[in-house]
Amino acid sequence: MLGLKAVDLKTQKIDTLIVPVCADKKIHDDRVIKAIIQKTLKLKEFKAETGDVVTLYDFKGLAAERIICVGLGKLKKIDQEILRSFCGAAVGRCIQADFERIWVAVPSAEKLKMELPELIESMMEGACLGNHVFDKYKQEKKHKPLKQINFWIKPQTAGKLRKIAPKVSTICAGTILAREWISMPSNEKTPEQFTRSIVSQARKYGLKTRVLREKELKQNKFGALLAVAAGSQSKPSMVVLEHKPPNAKQTLALVGKGVTFDSGGLNIKTGGSMAGMKADMSGAAVVAATLITQARLKTRTHVIGVIPIVENMPSGKATRPGDIVRSYAGKTIEIGNTDAEGRLILIDAMAYVVKKHKPKIMIDLATLTGACVVALGEKIAGVFTTDDRLAEAIQASGDKTHERCWPMPLPEDYKELLKSDFADLNNMPNSRWGGAITAALFLSEFSGDTRWAHIDIAGPAYNKKGDAYCGPGGTGFGVRLLCDLIQKL
Ligand code: BES
Ligand code: ZN
Ligand code: ZN
Repeated sequence: MLGLKAVDLKTQKIDTLIVPVCADKKIHDDRVIKAIIQKTLKLKEFKAETGDVVTLYDFKGLAAERIICVGLGKLKKIDQEILRSFCGAAVGRCIQADFERIWVAVPSAEKLKMELPELIESMMEGACLGNHVFDKYKQEKKHKPLKQINFWIKPQTAGKLRKIAPKVSTICAGTILAREWISMPSNEKTPEQFTRSIVSQARKYGLKTRVLREKELKQNKFGALLAVAAGSQSKPSMVVLEHKPPNAKQTLALVGKGVTFDSGGLNIKTGGSMAGMKADMSGAAVVAATLITQARLKTRTHVIGVIPIVENMPSGKATRPGDIVRSYAGKTIEIGNTDAEGRLILIDAMAYVVKKHKPKIMIDLATLTGACVVALGEKIAGVFTTDDRLAEAIQASGDKTHERCWPMPLPEDYKELLKSDFADLNNMPNSRWGGAITAALFLSEFSGDTRWAHIDIAGPAYNKKGDAYCGPGGTGFGVRLLCDLIQKL
């Protein structure tokens, strides 16, 4: 679907050519493209500000049917994210117009003061992610994704850049897989269905998969996970995915919260706060999609994905506030609040992977707390770890992929807030404040000696409105970040 081509623009038959235009500097060095821009900038209606669009037909000297010039804004502000958004928005517009094939002119990397591979990568990412149409549940399928998006570059540079398009396609397919899982309604992704869907996708790409079902979870005393699942008609599971290339040195464990619906349980949520809770399995979707992507990319790091999957529902069989359960690690937990369920399933998954696989590094992703959204808003995730190097690596990867993460503290003395009069810990902190921190501290009790980080994605996992390269629904936040991080480990 993505192509990188260095053809002769004068003779190449092209339906639609997209030309990014900077408002205050010349960013292309091809003669034909420069001529196009010179002409459009003479038009009153086109100032090349962000979002300005003008279409030219029958441009002399070019075999293109139409040329769409799109404003990029001022040079100072152009970075990789602006380019992703530009391409995402351009593709979105072409989908609406029912085009099938488009070409995009890549500006000069030198003039943008970027490296060419990064420039092409970000443009392709925006285009590929923006080319996703989620219309599974619409009777009438209005618009189709584009069949082909070609990026045009100057002839002499084409050769060594060949690997970018397939790599970007594979990673974006991972993000899109996570998005579709997250956007899927809870009545179609009960724990059993979601488990089956993950396993079938994972097997397709050759991952080693293992599913611990209810019987095994009971036999192996996953008491905290089972307590959350108790109220639901649907049976819980824990999926273990493994990408194990020969001679891999490092083992990285990824743990993802998989609550297919969070009603709150007996501490039931109110209407407004329950509304988006189909997305409470975003961590699970991102971990599963990342593992599948690793298998497809054939990366050389050993990665294990551990995915606890439950539905949190109230019923006569549901766990009650005040109940005390014994976790997989042996520590007992008083259930102060059935709505703090994410930490319960995560600690059993974490303790399991630490015990069985002894990973060098463990990272969990979870839509864990509303408090994290209060702290950082809907676009930035919180990172919790005492390992500064790991925090920096996560933040750096997030900056690169624009899945932004911000480091948060794990103060020892706040552990006080998780004390229970009767059990080893209470899942409900005895203070209203610092909810994202106390949730992370609760998890930290189960990381053992493993280098561990927790990423709270409650804010950025879901986007109700959508943006330039993500439709309304699940965002897949974390897949691209983790793929970048794994490459660096
Ligand atoms: N799934 C929610 C957290 C959440 C909130 C995710 C908003 C996405 C958007 C989690 O299980 C939860 O209910 N957390 C409680 C914890 C509290 C009871 C200690 C919360 O954040 O209020
Ligand atoms: Zn909850
Ligand atoms: Zn939850």
